[in-house]
Formats: sequence, C-alpha cells, structure tokens
Amino acid sequence: MRLATDFVVWLTSLTDVNKSSDVNLSIRPIAGALGAEIQGVNLADASGRVIDDLREAFNRYHVLVFREQELSPAEQKRFAQHFGCLETHPYITGLEDHPEVVAVIKEPHETINFGGGWHSDMSFLPAPPLGSVLHALQVPEYGGDTVFSNQHAAYMALSDTMKTIVDGLTGIHSAASQYGAGGDSDKRKHERESMKLEVSEQAHQLVEHPVVRTHPESGLRALYVNRPFTERIKGMRKSESEALLALLYAHCEEEQFTCRIKWEVGTVTMWDNRVVQHYALNDYQGQRRYMHRVTIVGDEPI
Ligand code: SIN
Repeated sequence: MRLATDFVVWLTSLTDVNKSSDVNLSIRPIAGALGAEIQGVNLADASGRVIDDLREAFNRYHVLVFREQELSPAEQKRFAQHFGCLETHPYITGLEDHPEVVAVIKEPHETINFGGGWHSDMSFLPAPPLGSVLHALQVPEYGGDTVFSNQHAAYMALSDTMKTIVDGLTGIHSAASQYGAGGDSDKRKHERESMKLEVSEQAHQLVEHPVVRTHPESGLRALYVNRPFTERIKGMRKSESEALLALLYAHCEEEQFTCRIKWEVGTVTMWDNRVVQHYALNDYQGQRRYMHRVTIVGDEPI
C-alpha cells in the first residue's frame, strides 16, 4: 500500500491540448490508503491534458476531491463524459431535463439517507459503473461526510491462504434488498420520500461477478463484495457463504483502508467504483443535504 505522507505533487505548467492556457494542478493525498484533493482545476471547462492528468491521478488515488466548483447539471455531465458514457439509474428517477443526474437528497424531516451503509454502486448490473461524480449543492452545518474504502488495499492485506480461497470465488448479486418488493426502498419509503426510488420486479434478477476483480486500467486486484447487493457466494452452503461474507465485509471496512470526505458547498468528489466502496454517514438529523450525482458506465468485472 502507498505510504501516508504529506507530500504535495506539483505538476507544473500543464498546458491543455488547445494550448489556450497553462494550468497548475496540485495533488495532495488525504489519507494513507486512498484519496487526493486536487487544486487548480475548474471542472466546468477541463479538457485535454488536464483530463489525462486527472485520469492518471484517479487510477492512483481512486477518490479525487475538488473544492469550490460551480457546475450546472449539463456541465457536471460534460465533465463526467470525459471518462465514459453516463448511466441512467434503473430504479431512481433523475432530474426532469437530465435523467442521468440523480438528486441525492435528505430533507430535515427525513430519517434515512441514500447510500447510508457500505456499498459499491449498482453491483447488481452485469456491467456495474466505472465510477460516480457527486457535486454538493447544500450541506449540513455539521456531519454528512462520506467515507471511502480501498478494496485493492483490503485484498492485499489478506493472508496468502485467504487470497487463494477468494481468488476463485463468484459472488451472486441483485438489487432485491434495496429495490425489490419488500426491500429497503419499499419498507422505508416514508422515511426517505424525497429520493425518487422505484420498487421493481426486475430488481430480483441475479448477476454473477468474481469476488476478486481486476481493474481494467491499472491491473489492480480488488475485493468485490458488498452488503446490500451481494446475496451469496456461488457453490457454498448458506451458512458458509454468510460466514465468509461477514468476514470479508468486516475486513473491507477496516479504518486502515479508508479516507473521509468533509463536504462544503461546491465540493465535487469522484470515485472509482471498481476499486472502492463508500458510505454516506447519516449523522445530521434535522438538516438538509442536497447533491447531484452522475454515474459513468463501466465494464463487466473480470
Ligand atoms: C451514494 O451512495 O452515491 C451517495 C453518497 C453520498 O451521498 O455521500
């Protein structure tokens, strides 16, 4: 794993492809395991060399944080499209004019937040997202941080014996526990009504993914199981699967693999869903938190 150091990498005088301006990016790691804060970029007009450098930083740090960004939904989409096509969430209705943009909202009277538990976004899809870009429009006075965990670091920290066991395993995923009949969205709709979540029969479809996936760009191997969407391990007895998943979840979520993002209005965070899990903390009751999220289409895990 990378060492936790306070160093600042200055990429000096990066000229964008249009040669219209010189841009200085500063990349400052925010924790030992993952995450970096980037300064010196306006995401609304980032292009060319800047995007290349951000892609490199993304593969290295997995979570990138940008402060003081003003992005309309169209500008947020344009930035994210530098990294791939955009996903339309199958069970969440997006903004009227921008269906790919999901409003992640918790109103003061609501008790449940969206994403309030460790998870990988949409691992119930045959090709789950590459990553997401989340833009903070309104933040609580305190609380509402998001925590990320590096699943490559978690995999590498397993013993060789455990690596050999998990390397050959397949996980069975579905959206049923969240978006199926009787699932979380169904049971708790009155506690989280500002999110436009649907309940669907389709959410019960099963999808298989390797328990250890290889990142298509960096080649890093990462654990790929998560609490809401991994139903069981293929070919195991229920009790075996439950015990192994419980062990892996507890391991994946260890503090040593995490970084924590404190949001301000205008903060944008993008994360690599192929190698991180995340958790939106629900510790700001009585206050409003309002974000826009876009999600980038990914590959079938290998
Ligand atoms: C999510 O799970 O995408 C929401 C993250 C957040 O609101 O911090």
